[in-house]
Order: sequence, then C-alpha cells, then structure tokens
Amino acid sequence: MLVQDPVLHREWIAVCRSSDVQDKPVQVTLMGERIVVFRTETGIHAFKDLCIHRGAALSLGCVRNGNLVCPYHAWEYDPSGACVKIPQLPETQAIPTKAKAIAYGCRERYGFVWVNLGGEDAGMFSLPEFDDPAFRNVIWGPQEVNAKPPRVIENFLDVGHLAVVHEGYLGVETHREIGDYRVHKTEDGCIRSDEIAIFQPDPDGTGQAKHVYYTYEVLRPLSVKFTKRDEENGNLMSILLTVLPLTETKSVAFGVMSFNYETDLTDEEMVKFQDMIFAQDKPIVENQKPEDLPLDLQIELSLKSDRMSIAYRQYLTELGVTHGTA
Ligand code: FES
Ligand code: CO
Repeated sequence: MLVQDPVLHREWIAVCRSSDVQDKPVQVTLMGERIVVFRTETGIHAFKDLCIHRGAALSLGCVRNGNLVCPYHAWEYDPSGACVKIPQLPETQAIPTKAKAIAYGCRERYGFVWVNLGGEDAGMFSLPEFDDPAFRNVIWGPQEVNAKPPRVIENFLDVGHLAVVHEGYLGVETHREIGDYRVHKTEDGCIRSDEIAIFQPDPDGTGQAKHVYYTYEVLRPLSVKFTKRDEENGNLMSILLTVLPLTETKSVAFGVMSFNYETDLTDEEMVKFQDMIFAQDKPIVENQKPEDLPLDLQIELSLKSDRMSIAYRQYLTELGVTHGTA
C-alpha cells in the first residue's frame, strides 16, 4: 500500500498552501491520515487530527494563547502536543501524562506547508529560484487527480507526450521526434537529464515557433522540476511539481512556476494556463493501468526517449519505495 510506504512516511510532503492557514486550524489529509495544521506565534504545527479524550477532530477547535483548543471539552494542547489544560479537572489535580496530541514534523517553505509523518527527517530539496530576486515565483495548485503520485510525477517527466497531449501549446505535431539524451545522478543524489531540444509553437509569447531546451530533475520521490531555457534571450522558466498522496488512489498536485523574465501575464493567468495543461494530462493519468508505476522495467515497453521516466522508476526502487507493481 502506497499510503503505508515507510519511505514516503519520512518525506516532507506539501499538504496545503501557506496562505490557507491563517488564525484557524485547518484539516488536511495525508496518506489517508487526517491532520490538523495550525499557526501560533512560534510558527506552524501539525498534529494528528484527533483528541485523545473522546476522539474529536481538533481541527474543529481554535487556537488560543498559543495552544490548540479541542472543540468538545476545551482541552488545550501546546505546540509540542502536550496537554496543558483540562477545564474539567480540579486545579489541584495533575494533568495525566498520557494526555497528548500526536505531533508531526511541520514547516513552511516555497509557499507551502510541509508535513513529515515520520520521526526521521529524510531531508528536503532546495529550490534556489524561490529565494533568488531575479525570479518571479507563482504558486500553483491544489489540483486533485484520481491517480497515484508516481503516475502523476512520471507524466510531468515525460517529454514524448508534449507534442501529442499538449500539441499546439508545448509541442508541434511535425516535431514529435525526441533527440537522444542522457540522465545523470548528481552529487546530492538527485537525477538530472541533459538538455532536451523541444520545438514549441510560441515559447516566448512573440508568436515565433522555435526550439527551447528542457532539463528535467528528480529532487525527491514526490518532487520534480523542469527548467526551460531559451538560448536566444536567456529566458529561464522552471516548474516544480510536488505531489501529495491524499489517499491510496487520490493525489493532489502543487507547483511553483519561476520566471527570470518579464511577461504581461498576471499570476492568475499563469495559473489558468497551467490548469489547462494539467487538465489535458488528467484523463490520461487517471486511466493508466496499472495504477501503480511498474517498477519492473520489463512490464511496459520503453523507448530511449523514456530515459527520464526509467531513471525515476530506478530512483524509487533504489530508495526502497515499495508500492510499485514489481
Ligand atoms: Fe477533546 Fe474531549 S474530546 S477535550
Ligand atoms: Co503533460
């Protein structure tokens, strides 16, 4: 079961946008688990969305004096998960040590709230564009999809479909052939492709069809990125895709689009375009069989142009992600 995968349980997973969490607690789902995310003066926190007293959802409560207050009998939990107040208990009586919420790792980065269910931290990738003033960053998502995350990720890394599924936008029917390219393991354990030339109908908004160069990267099991380079003007555009396993069969995609050049498009227009592209991929991804990514490379028929997705499958295998149909 993907939702029980021990490797994914040590990963930082984006559960919502930072802007979604204001002064009220928010309920999110991560790998079938209900989680409450809340903000206090000391930062952002995530607990299992369950009060140990009578099983109420803490997300229906509120934040008061830096503590999360249960909606049912107003027990108060501090950000570490320790219960610090039980209103029904005489003041002379100590709070039972078992009165605790289950706290998970939680942090904010790149416009999202990230939760780590495991005690161990498997590390987090960096997105240099986000902190670089030369880039404009636009947050994209959430977009729900009825497919497992590795299928969604692999679709994003798939260069061969651009001139088919996104014909007229990201590719041209007369230029479907993919030149040879290699993939490499980087020093920090990521995977990066060579630049791949893709002929696009209007990559820079001037109406001029030309080649642009895509570099694909696998940063973590559920976080990948591509960078598009236009050699004529030095324009760089990258998209980070990170996928939340919601339940065993549902995923949520989030992204960061980064540009080092000016465009006339507003953030909303950028998001709308990306939504349209994602909507083109959705029916393909939601109907692929098997639902799990086959980690046995003999199961599907791969071409040289599928090198990036083969490398992604191998990467998952090496990390020991066990959900695949092996
Ligand atoms: Fe939470 Fe009673 S169920 S305080
Ligand atoms: Co696509």
